Amino acid sequence: MAKAPDSDHDEAVVRRAPLFTALDDSAASTLKAAMTTVKINKGGVLFSEGDEGQTLYVIVDGKIKLGTRSSDGRENLLSILGPGEMFGELSLFDVGPRTATATAVTDTRLLALGHDKVIPWVTAHPEVSLQLLARLAQRLRRTNEVVSDLVFSDVPGRVAKALIDLGERFGVKKDDGFHVNHDLTQEELAQLVGASRETVNKALADFAARGWLRLEARAVVVLDYERLAKRGK
Ligand code: CMP
Repeated sequence: MAKAPDSDHDEAVVRRAPLFTALDDSAASTLKAAMTTVKINKGGVLFSEGDEGQTLYVIVDGKIKLGTRSSDGRENLLSILGPGEMFGELSLFDVGPRTATATAVTDTRLLALGHDKVIPWVTAHPEVSLQLLARLAQRLRRTNEVVSDLVFSDVPGRVAKALIDLGERFGVKKDDGFHVNHDLTQEELAQLVGASRETVNKALADFAARGWLRLEARAVVVLDYERLAKRGK
């Protein structure tokens, strides 16, 4: 049967996920065939913090935000994930509840694999477990950095760093600048850097006044990447 037009693109995206990178083509297609496609509309909640976790996900298209909520209702965003990124594995490895709520920032398509299928797969393909460990180590490094930034950096510095980080994953170079289509509201951007919306707005307005970026709805166009990156250091 002929391949669907998107299938080559999907294949390439999924092969970037840590479950797949160490596999040869044949093992990768066996694994992909064992996974089910899940679609979730913008704003939909895939699972909530505290739920029992049963599934691991790889994003094919779209964006997912991972967030936690304090007892008084304030929200904090841990990460925004995009195509080729994986989540939902912590509750598998420590057999505890979901550590965050996963919500679709845009219409999103994912591949899902039941936790009960992950362990036999990893046991049969030990090289996959090294990739999963590498990804966990990267995430811990990033989390340590976030904690340090909360202590040592000011809000504009954290906003600059968040934009550079989002740009690395979702940015597209165009003639008029580096377009970072983050799809986040200013409230969500504030939750991502752990500051109030007002302070984040002020930082963004200041960057715009300096000519470092142009503000657009749920996006920024970075005009002076070097200065913005330096501010986020
Ligand atoms: P799990 O606890 O099953 O469900 C929530 C998921 O969010 C979790 O697995 C991880 O995959 C992901 N997650 C939790 N904390 C972070 C973090 N600090 N950065 C990125 N992803 C995270």
